[in-house]
Amino acid sequence: MSSNKLIATAKANTNIALIKYWGKRDEKLFLPMNSSLSITLNNFYTITTVEFIEELKEDIFIWDQAPGITKEFKKVSTFLDIIRKEAGMNLHAKVITENHVPTAAGFASSASGYAALAAAATKAIGLHLSLNELSKIARQGSGSACRSIFGGFVEWQKGSLEDGSDSYARQILDENAWNLTILSVMVTAGQKKVSSREGMKRTLETSPFYQGWLSTVDEDMEAVKTAIRNRDFVSLGEVVERNALKMHATMLGAKPPIIYWESGTLEVIHCIQDFRQEGVPVYFTIDAGPNVKVLCEPENEDKVKQVLMELRSVQKVISCNPGAGVRYLSEHLIQ
Ligand code: PMV
Repeated sequence: MSSNKLIATAKANTNIALIKYWGKRDEKLFLPMNSSLSITLNNFYTITTVEFIEELKEDIFIWDQAPGITKEFKKVSTFLDIIRKEAGMNLHAKVITENHVPTAAGFASSASGYAALAAAATKAIGLHLSLNELSKIARQGSGSACRSIFGGFVEWQKGSLEDGSDSYARQILDENAWNLTILSVMVTAGQKKVSSREGMKRTLETSPFYQGWLSTVDEDMEAVKTAIRNRDFVSLGEVVERNALKMHATMLGAKPPIIYWESGTLEVIHCIQDFRQEGVPVYFTIDAGPNVKVLCEPENEDKVKQVLMELRSVQKVISCNPGAGVRYLSEHLIQ
């Protein structure tokens, strides 16, 4: 590692939205229709090294993921173009990525992936950015990535300017301020049929229920922020669960409809409702896929996990807690 090399390595955690981002007002700049709020998770992350090299004729990618991911390379190159333009530099890059996100467990790696890539590439090319600036860049790779720049509880303010300069994330509570357990529950399912990018576009363009989503999401956001401020787990859980169900309801009205749920999804939902009948405060949220993320307080984690594991359609349950924002590492994946 020599000091004049244009190289940097960053690690970013993925996040789970409590108030969902669903729908873009600008497809190219990744500007959302609504603000969203998430928890950055401690156990699922991506490490990426980027090196800009004069001799390269094109960008090179080394990915530790399944074949088929090559279609993602074009998107990553286009994303690097944004950073090259910002830095006024035309060099191509070698990008090495290690994903520690169990994509099979229903977490998209795009949030941690683009957050780590944005951090490593901007540092390697010599840009000195604030975290807000970095969040705006990450947003243009994948919307949810703008939230993974920060740790703990994070809000992505939708902004209103056309150029997106006021659309970025900010931390509202750090990862040590309120410990919660997030269980990622993987159910038996086939391949995801519709990407979140396509799913939100179709919903916005065709679902008569989308207006209903938009007209209540600000209230949900305020209720969640109040619950976080008061460390009120029950109020938090109630809004989070309803918000996720409303997002999925908009998709049922899309043309053609989008149904991400499988029978196992419902089995987990019913199990969570049974817990509440018995007085245990447990809530769920679901992204653009069949798997369920369960929220509970740490003292109930073992009991909830054990019951979930016994369900017929549950394959795996992985525990997480609130985690840190993006970090730079001194050891590079490229030597
Ligand atoms: O930014 P994307 O393409 O990963 O879309 C995220 C969509 C949801 O996961 C369903 C909601 C969210 O806010 O993360």
